[in-house]
Amino acid sequence: MLVETEIKSELHTYGGNGRFILAKSDEIIDMLVKEYKDSVQLIYLDPPFGTGDKFTMLKKVNGTRITVSTYDDTLNDEQYIEMMRNIMNGCKKMLTKSGAIYVHVDYRMSVKMRLLLDEVFGENNFVNEIIWSYKSGGRATNHFSRKHDTILLYKNGKSMLFNLEAIGTLRGTEQRSHMKKSVDEEGKVYFSIRSGGKIYKYYEDSMVYPSDVWDDIEHLHQKDPERTGYSTQKPEELLRRIILASSNENDIVMDLFSGSGTTSAVASKNNRHWVSVDCSPVAMNVLRMRQLKTCEEISLFSKSEPMLIEHLDRNAIDHNIEVELKVEKTSSEKYKITVISQSGDCPISYFAVGYVSNNINSFTPEVFTTNINEGTALYFINKSDKPFVIHIADYRGRQKFFKYVQ
Ligand SMILES: C[S@@+](CC[C@H](N)C(=O)[O-])C[C@H]1O[C@@H](n2cnc3c(N)ncnc32)[C@H](O)[C@@H]1O
Repeated sequence: MLVETEIKSELHTYGGNGRFILAKSDEIIDMLVKEYKDSVQLIYLDPPFGTGDKFTMLKKVNGTRITVSTYDDTLNDEQYIEMMRNIMNGCKKMLTKSGAIYVHVDYRMSVKMRLLLDEVFGENNFVNEIIWSYKSGGRATNHFSRKHDTILLYKNGKSMLFNLEAIGTLRGTEQRSHMKKSVDEEGKVYFSIRSGGKIYKYYEDSMVYPSDVWDDIEHLHQKDPERTGYSTQKPEELLRRIILASSNENDIVMDLFSGSGTTSAVASKNNRHWVSVDCSPVAMNVLRMRQLKTCEEISLFSKSEPMLIEHLDRNAIDHNIEVELKVEKTSSEKYKITVISQSGDCPISYFAVGYVSNNINSFTPEVFTTNINEGTALYFINKSDKPFVIHIADYRGRQKFFKYVQ
């Protein structure tokens, strides 16, 4: 018999290095400060930009296109600044003395955010105003097209960690029109330029480092394999530059507006620990799927570094998800669990079977799939005498747990 059961979190022992919390960051910031005081190396914040928009996600599942609401960017100016002030004060307490915070905004919020960061971190701790310039989308006809975001970088103490070498790229063989190409006596190619009576030489095999204008990272295109369908998703390359520059392996990287989980994906790939928060159940679902995919692709996770997904905002997960499951015992320990039908308004995105550890009320999947149709079955060997639990989630992030009791 299947009995619906309440579970607080998921502990993924096959993938992770991180912790995702489904909650409003401004509401849990004090809890985070208690846990992470002086211990976070890097914080990246990509908050809603004050667009007044309601965002949705488009997904093609088994040939059908579905639209799900992801989040509303509808706070008024005053509420927005108050939320950000509260969060930034917490960020300051969590950062290490060599830590850094990057705040990603556009023309709508860049001035207000700069003033707020000056207030919280101090004008002296301003480091860079990074311009991320891209070429995506349409063109304006009545003003200059707005084709950049602003990323404000502040440090938290006198000496900020900055790994310049980690973000360099080889100068390469491309001819620069304003430079002369020559070969030295050892046969090495270099480009040179005369300026102020001096000759500057740049070898092909030397490194170049990004300035504060980033025009070499493209916006995600419609068909980009990295795309999750989550609107406002940022490219991994952007986060890669930030994470490599401002943290070392095993450092903690935090993102309090995690969205599709770009920060956590890049952090996992580069052996950083991550803590990500978002108030959207859709974001939780996308992050779960993305981490599992990342884990499969690069298999770098160690079993001792699990990923914890906490469903702190229980109200955000509407339990109205309709699914019919069948459990069959196929041998003494082996079970076949089949999705017979799904009659809800949104397809199922994740189906797992595992156990719950009662002391922390956390579900640990033993087998899972993210490719689900009616008739999809998971085979599960029940090695213990504990009841096993089935976890079902849909693309809206709504979910249910069922305990199997004989
Ligand atoms: C611009 S998106 C982040 C996109 C992300 N950087 C990515 O690459 O996918 C902003 C996110 O902030 C979340 N959000 C809005 N208000 C929030 C709050 N108070 N606490 C936590 N998350 C919030 C939204 O659900 C949304 O996913």
